[in-house]
Amino acid sequence: MSIPQTEKQALIDLANTARQRAYAPYSKYHVGAALRTKTGRIFTGVNIENAAYPHTICAERVAIFKAVSEGEKEFEVIAVATDNGGSPCGGCRQVLAEFGLDTLVLIANGAGELLKEMTVKELLPEAFTPEHLP
Ligand code: THU
Repeated sequence: MSIPQTEKQALIDLANTARQRAYAPYSKYHVGAALRTKTGRIFTGVNIENAAYPHTICAERVAIFKAVSEGEKEFEVIAVATDNGGSPCGGCRQVLAEFGLDTLVLIANGAGELLKEMTVKELLPEAFTPEHLP
């Protein structure tokens, strides 16, 4: 199902607004995400770092975990915004894959420009998914 450009832009703008709330005192790399579920609800996320570095969590996973914790597990699209249009990390690709390979991923920069868009399947080919488990 194709998503109108205006709706993509609205999600990108939400991701960039969320980005202002990133807690990233160590990397200073602020990431925002806006996830829309198939039911139409929107969950935002930001990266949240920690003085014990490995306990940092990415913006995408915050958005996904917020959604799942609110009973939503079917996602349509996620916008990810960073200053320079950075791509979702491997861990976030894997977490996205858990909930569906067809979720659309919009990668945007801090100016709100959509730089790339692709499905989770394209971002993470040959993904290990729940179907692989007995
Ligand atoms: N980060 C994200 O929030 N999402 C990604 O997909 C890549 C990396 C965050 C983690 C860390 O706070 C900062 O960006 C630098 O790695």
